[in-house]
Amino acid sequence: MKLKRTLNVLRFWIYQPAAVESEWLRLVCKIAHPILEVMTHRPVLYNEIIHAMQPRQGGLYVDGTIGAGGHAWGILQASSPDGRLLGMDVDPQALKLAGEKLVEFGERAHIVRASYITLLKQLAALKWHQVDGILIDLGLSSMQLDTQARGFSFLAEAPLDMRFDPNGKTSAADLVNHLNEVELADILFRFGEERRSRQVARAIVNARPITSTMHLAKVVAEVTSGGRSGIHPATRTFQALRIAVNGELEALEDVLPQTVEALKPGGRLAIIAFHSLEDRIVKHFMRRESRDCICPPNQPDCTCGHKATLREVTHKPTRPQEDEVRNNPRSRSARLRVAERIEGTT
Ligand SMILES: C[S@@+](CC[C@H](N)C(=O)[O-])C[C@H]1O[C@@H](n2cnc3c(N)ncnc32)[C@H](O)[C@@H]1O
Repeated sequence: MKLKRTLNVLRFWIYQPAAVESEWLRLVCKIAHPILEVMTHRPVLYNEIIHAMQPRQGGLYVDGTIGAGGHAWGILQASSPDGRLLGMDVDPQALKLAGEKLVEFGERAHIVRASYITLLKQLAALKWHQVDGILIDLGLSSMQLDTQARGFSFLAEAPLDMRFDPNGKTSAADLVNHLNEVELADILFRFGEERRSRQVARAIVNARPITSTMHLAKVVAEVTSGGRSGIHPATRTFQALRIAVNGELEALEDVLPQTVEALKPGGRLAIIAFHSLEDRIVKHFMRRESRDCICPPNQPDCTCGHKATLREVTHKPTRPQEDEVRNNPRSRSARLRVAERIEGTT
């Protein structure tokens, strides 16, 4: 108890160095601040998510991609003492981390191993008719990227896996070694926006079997430079394979209409995307759902009967502040879009 109080005082000083009288202690606090930030690693756009979700006492929330539980912790904390959260993930390692992080909230946190595409089913099982907020933080977590054996990174030698769910049917090695050249090129073009998709696909087919991350990265680097953006030549290929292995875009398309059904009027939907393919899907969905008519623009009379179900809260995506990108360079491509369920629509 005493230790906890001391740690809380220290944390307060570190975040509020102006409150510290002693000059040398103030200096120590300033030095400790970035170290603490790294050690307690906050998830991407943390403050923005808490602001967007507007957690309140007694509220019901869903974190569809709970990861290490960072956002979920903030939502539960801000909806104290009795807000509840359903957290989902397909990765058992992530669920373990989330479980440890959220242990202090007891039964207020309900964590399940499930894909967010089962959203309505999970809510029905809990008898939660509708909820006050839904968060989906897309992409992979730092833990997944940094765990060499998962095969997400082209910077470390590992088997070509890339599955979020270790029980998933298809690994990246399966795609790379068994698809034909045209199918591979299609994946690289659609999910990686790789302009040299055909050359890369041909090089991959010629180099088979490819079973490791660095072998694949080398094969790709021999035929493409990564373009003017200065990114590693294998970035687009790895992104494309990861998206294909996990069916990421299909899952997103699948869950979006469910989120509308699952939200109470006034409830908030917050989605963080990490590349333009995901962001485009979210943007089009929110635009479409915030319009009363979705007939083609040149059609004189409305025949669709569509009624708006959402109000866009962010018209442009929210990007991380400079200091967040400085502390966590992986946050640099994050884009947050938020929409609110409109009163009275069904
Ligand atoms: C960017 S991380 C989330 C980080 C989390 N917001 C936090 O605060 O730590 C994305 C997570 O989504 C999970 N994921 C990917 N596809 C999923 C799906 N279809 N259903 C549920 N979780 C999924 C991944 O396993 C990963 O843990």
